[in-house]
Amino acid sequence: MEASADKPSRAAPTLIVHGGAGRGRPRPDEQADADLRRDLRRALDAGWEHLAAGAEAACVAAVRVLEDSPLFNAGTGSALAADGGVWCDASLMCGDGRAGAVAGVQAIRFPISAAQALMHAGAPPLLWAGRSAELAARYELEQVDPGRMVTERQRRRLERRLSGGRAASSGGTVGAVCLDATGALAAATSTGGYAAKPPARIGDSAIIGAGTWADARTCAVSATGDGEAFMRTLFAHEIHARMLHAGEGLAQAAGAALAAVRDAGGLGGAICVAADGAIAVPISSEVMARGWRCGEETQIALGGATA
Ligand code: GLY
Repeated sequence: MEASADKPSRAAPTLIVHGGAGRGRPRPDEQADADLRRDLRRALDAGWEHLAAGAEAACVAAVRVLEDSPLFNAGTGSALAADGGVWCDASLMCGDGRAGAVAGVQAIRFPISAAQALMHAGAPPLLWAGRSAELAARYELEQVDPGRMVTERQRRRLERRLSGGRAASSGGTVGAVCLDATGALAAATSTGGYAAKPPARIGDSAIIGAGTWADARTCAVSATGDGEAFMRTLFAHEIHARMLHAGEGLAQAAGAALAAVRDAGGLGGAICVAADGAIAVPISSEVMARGWRCGEETQIALGGATA
């Protein structure tokens, strides 16, 4: 069916992924940057392959790739809590209002799949702290030896942090947002939090409205950065609310919401796609790994606020 003359034709499907915002490297590392780009591209490819099944499937497929990559702070490769453990947060929301979230899960290979399972269980937006084995068994989620989720890089970061190294950063959180061919929106976010966090600390990536939001009337958002400030400002929902109630465009709303995060003492960024196909990637951190695909066009970038 053709779009009527007074309506815009449906926007082209778009998938955006991120691999976290944070501080830049102390020294340039071309190989490490190439590895990040490779895995962001793999995530985009995996999501795109699932696009025919809808925005939700595309987001989950993309995030699972990033959770499995040891380069990012989610799933395998997560930042280690002060007890040396991996405690993961993840959330998923669709533009029709369905949502699922998990907080502080352990030994689940793909935390985003746990959030998706809860969403499909028909529960209201839900947090589930701990009891990971029970959760995994009930929803047939893949469990993994917790030690296999710990990387040497994160072990060193924890040691540095515990011996008085520079302040904790939640860099490396992952996420995806998608507008599919039917016009449906979805957003997904997953993280291990930050090095030396209190065990079972819950961050914005587990909070629907803070780190993740999708609404068919406005946009889909996945955030990354200093979670406490994103929670205090209910960042992702703020973008939606500004669009819906104040009539702001996506870029204006996203920029204003990130400014509010800065005022609350936090830095970071977000990937956003609107129902009309507009995209915005506001960043206030030194760096943010992200990639974007629309049609045959793919772009990957690693620079941040000054890039
Ligand atoms: N933004 C991820 C976290 O603070 O846990």
